[in-house]
Amino acid sequence: MEKPTHHILVCASFRVKGDPKGVCHKKNDGMLQYMEEEILSRGLDALISTTGCLKQCDNGPVVVIYPQGTWYQKVEGEEAIDAVLDALESGEVCEQYLLA
Ligand code: FES
Repeated sequence: MEKPTHHILVCASFRVKGDPKGVCHKKNDGMLQYMEEEILSRGLDALISTTGCLKQCDNGPVVVIYPQGTWYQKVEGEEAIDAVLDALESGEVCEQYLLA
C-alpha cells in the first residue's frame, strides 16, 4: 500500500492505564464508519487512524488532518463530518469546526 495523501486522526480517548478515559469516544459513536464510507464514496485518498486522548477533551470529538496539520473540534454527527470532508476535498479549511 502506498502512503495516503491525507491522514485523518480521530481521537478515541485512550489514556494510560488507570486514568479515566476522555470524552471523544462517547460523542463520536458511529463516526468512524460514516467517515470511512464518505471517504470511499468521495474517492478521497485518505486513511483514518484512531488516537489516544489529544488533550482537548472540552473540544471533542477532535479530528486532526495531516499533512495539513489542521485540528478540528466538536466534529460530532454526520453534518460535521460532511463539512470537514467537503473542505478537505476542495483543499480548504472548514472554519466552522476549526480548533484555533
Ligand atoms: S478524549 Fe479526545 S481530546 Fe481527550
